[in-house]
Amino acid sequence: MRILAIETSCDETGAAVVEKEENKSEVFVLSNSLATSLALHKKTGGIIPENAAREQIKYILPVITEALLLSVGQKPSDSPKEDQELCREILRNSINAIAVTYGPGLIGSLLVGVETAKTLAYVFNKPLIPVNHLLAHLYANIIDSDAYQPIIFPFIGLIVSGGHTDLLLFTSHDTFQWLGGTRDDAAGEAFDKIGRLLGLSYPAGPEIDKRAKKVVKTDLMFKSPLLHSDDLDFSFSGLKTEVMRFVQKQEKLNEERINEICFATQKAIVDVLITKTIKATLEYNAKTIVVGGGVSANSYLREVMVKKVKEKIGDTPVSFPLPKYSTDNGAAIGAYALFHTESLDIFQVTAQPELYLT
Ligand code: KG4
Ligand code: ZN
Repeated sequence: MRILAIETSCDETGAAVVEKEENKSEVFVLSNSLATSLALHKKTGGIIPENAAREQIKYILPVITEALLLSVGQKPSDSPKEDQELCREILRNSINAIAVTYGPGLIGSLLVGVETAKTLAYVFNKPLIPVNHLLAHLYANIIDSDAYQPIIFPFIGLIVSGGHTDLLLFTSHDTFQWLGGTRDDAAGEAFDKIGRLLGLSYPAGPEIDKRAKKVVKTDLMFKSPLLHSDDLDFSFSGLKTEVMRFVQKQEKLNEERINEICFATQKAIVDVLITKTIKATLEYNAKTIVVGGGVSANSYLREVMVKKVKEKIGDTPVSFPLPKYSTDNGAAIGAYALFHTESLDIFQVTAQPELYLT
């Protein structure tokens, strides 16, 4: 099955063509095109939803066009008319279904993807598969033959993105149970908000990751919230307050001190993510751990999670997506859809900004 997948939940416009043979689990990415309005949001220190939606409108057709052309080994040419004719032919003859993120996300951004996907499905008479963006982050792990790892059920899924932090137990592709999540800020949100306190540009997660690597030794530590609580919940707003108080007390913040704060912040966030994931794995006797979402790109999380799982559980495999599939992209949406091919009538598919997992 070959799917055109569209992602527009936030500030990235993604379109991909992905493929899987029936009864096989390997997902192949034929193309994965992405445009981002990040530069605009850096100027405002965060995302203004109206701006993000306007950029989505600008990018959506060029990104879909590029993804369709690349899927057959062509690049956009000097002749838009010819490109469009080829895209129509690809849509008619080689795309079996269209998948789209319908939530959660920013309403204006989601609407652009959802209504575009509905229109294409309507005109080309293709099945339309609505995809939950959060679940797709986990399926980013199955992409690309060289990185491919079979998912063994039951697995614990840790979703760590800019807006969400959740632990799930999957017993099959179609059955999962929500085990816990954040009570306030998400992990990515904590990175971004604390970065802002330190004067780092949005989104601060990658910069905090980079700066933390420069620290060889520090005594600075922040409290890892809910580290020893009995549940599988998280809470990161207290950490933000703790860092803010600490920053306010500093007479001068030099580069080294900022790097140390980045290190301590990252450690406080990552330690609790790892502890709760291991707790869930042991409690539910899971066979694999699958991590997804933008924060899964964090190098310290990757390194320490593997080490700690080995120490506390043994040989349970831990899977992270390739870094390019960790953050928002169309291929992850397509990967999820290839395992959940049930389509809906186009008029039943609507953008759902508050879509959740429970
Ligand atoms: O999944 P994603 O691309 O978008 C949402 O669905 O929210 O996640 C974006 C989040 C941002 O908060 C960003 O700071 C964080 O992922 N992020 C990172 C890293 N790369 C991206 N956080 C920590 N370390 C990273 N290397
Ligand atoms: Zn995301």
